[in-house]
Amino acid sequence: MRKRILWGAALATLVVALPVTAVQDQAIPDDALGLSKTSVYDVPDPAVFAYSDADAGSVGKRAERSYHTAPPMIPHSIVDMVPITQDANLCKDCHVVPEMIGQKLTQGMPVPAPVSHFVSVKKGQLHMGRWNCTQCHAPQAKVDVLVQSTFKKAR
Ligand code: HEC
Ligand code: HEC
Repeated sequence: MRKRILWGAALATLVVALPVTAVQDQAIPDDALGLSKTSVYDVPDPAVFAYSDADAGSVGKRAERSYHTAPPMIPHSIVDMVPITQDANLCKDCHVVPEMIGQKLTQGMPVPAPVSHFVSVKKGQLHMGRWNCTQCHAPQAKVDVLVQSTFKKAR
């Protein structure tokens, strides 16, 4: 009985120890630990990027949607409009215009928030779960990404 336990313990140590030595044998080079192509000991100097400083209404074109039902990205600057608080929501002033839903938009006109955002379109009553617009809608910045996405939007 005693002998069997000892054997069991010996076997268990072997099983635990094996993968450790296996991993130690194939050390990962310093410059292959992350997405960055430099050593982890280097102080990185990422390229500076900025969000669009175009005023709302001056962009005139909408960002391509990644997929059907994706919240569209914000093409204009929002610096003077955030943070959105309980009492102040500038986004709402331009975008919560239920009478404009389905109407033809001309250049410079805000895209009306869709029917899904309302409790009652007729009463112009926004669903309060949609109050914090930036929870779902994000502004876009031009950046050189470390890894290019291969994601394709659905047809
Ligand atoms: C002064 C009016 C104004 C304000 C305030 C404003 N927007 Fe806009 N927004 C526009 C206009 C106009 C467009 C159309 C693109 C353009 O010409 O700039 C637009 C476009 C958008 C779009 C793209 C819609 C689509 O279908 O592609 C989103 C999303 C958006 N805004 C979200 C926001 C959010 C969130 C805020 C608040 C942080 C905000 N906007 C504040 C006027 C405004
Ligand atoms: C919970 C996430 C969420 C919040 C919060 C939200 N939206 Fe959206 N929004 C979406 C999604 C998703 C869409 C894509 C259309 C859809 O499925 O309803 C959308 C679409 C839009 C569009 C494009 C409409 C069109 O016809 O192309 C506008 C403009 C917009 N939202 C504005 C706003 C504004 C302004 C607020 C804040 C008052 C807001 N949204 C809050 C998720 C959200």
